[in-house]
Amino acid sequence: MHSIERLQQAINTQLQQHTARQQLRTLAANHFAQAGWLDLNHNDYLGLRYQRDWQTRVWQRCQELPIGAGGSRLLGGEFAIFQQLEQQFASFKNAPRALFFPSGYAANSACVPALAKALPHAQFFSDQLNHASLIDGFRLAKIPAAQKHIYPHLNYTALEQALSQSRAEVNIIITESLFSMDGDTCDLTRLDALAQRYRGLLLIDEAHAVGVCGNDGSGLIAAHHLDHEQLISVNTCGKALGSSGAFVCGATWFIDYLINTARHFIYTTAPSPWLAIALQEAMAHIQDQPQPRQHLVILAQTLREKLRAAGFDIGTSDSHIIVLLATDAEQALRWAEQLAAEKISVGAIRPPTVAVPRLRLSLHAALDDVQIERLLAALHKTRVAAR
Ligand SMILES: Cc1ncc(COP(=O)(O)O)c(C=O)c1O
Repeated sequence: MHSIERLQQAINTQLQQHTARQQLRTLAANHFAQAGWLDLNHNDYLGLRYQRDWQTRVWQRCQELPIGAGGSRLLGGEFAIFQQLEQQFASFKNAPRALFFPSGYAANSACVPALAKALPHAQFFSDQLNHASLIDGFRLAKIPAAQKHIYPHLNYTALEQALSQSRAEVNIIITESLFSMDGDTCDLTRLDALAQRYRGLLLIDEAHAVGVCGNDGSGLIAAHHLDHEQLISVNTCGKALGSSGAFVCGATWFIDYLINTARHFIYTTAPSPWLAIALQEAMAHIQDQPQPRQHLVILAQTLREKLRAAGFDIGTSDSHIIVLLATDAEQALRWAEQLAAEKISVGAIRPPTVAVPRLRLSLHAALDDVQIERLLAALHKTRVAAR
């Protein structure tokens, strides 16, 4: 047997196991922007992607710059617009400085090793449900098991107990501010107090909060009045900012350190300068228009109340991400299929991404009350069909 055939055989066996566990992943082109579909499967929380105004403003400015950066930021791919954008984003977050990464995955995976490299004896504390990119950061940093503590999701009593036992000079606490697969939010005020009490330093992933949460739309750090001089945040642009990329915000010297040591920043082509234009316009939109995010808060609250009242198990969701917990992967898939038959697109999230299979309803600001009623009616029908 040729080596390539041996490889194919090994891979087929593994993919068959994925299929048997109802976990086979396949790609399907998104057709949900078409008329009639209710798309609750994307993270474009402000509905910016398809907004004509935004597209036009970006398009008009694109002629100023090339599409491709032509190199890494440190080798041939640096443009003034990146530094302008970083300054604008830092001031939006009320942070000393920001650094633009090609993706949130890269930014998270870079920050954990940077912290571990700077402080090899630090103790790390990570929420059990933190995103894969943070977990991969741990893997890359090769942090010894004794220096890593995974605390139960949002359980700050358990976290405090673990912190109180730490002898490390610095305790690094890592969390998402709004959890992507549960839609619940962390108590940043309490985490900040714990950090102050136990020599802590917070690394906060604002992926699902930036652009939507807080009065100014900058996220939950500002909403909780935390001092951005004392922490590090990661802010992805592929969700409410409607495009892609991510900003790490933190002290000037931390950003300098990333520029000098973060392999995800150094050894990769800089993001497209067109993306930088898109993000400048996205930020202007967020700063000028509070109404869409205010509408989203009310819409999500109303839907959560109605779902709870109707007896759906929405877990601990308290945001624009609302989950419906299922008994098993098969049920989650069946629900998603039944909703698709009603032209409603939702994600069926299954292990290994989450422990308990679920539907993930990702609400966005373009939704109205009529669409929410349509969703509720379809969910009732799905439940009746399951009986
Ligand atoms: C909480 C969280 N952090 C980071 C990321 C990675 O961001 P990006 O899609 O920009 O790589 C995601 C994306 O799924 C996420 O949900």
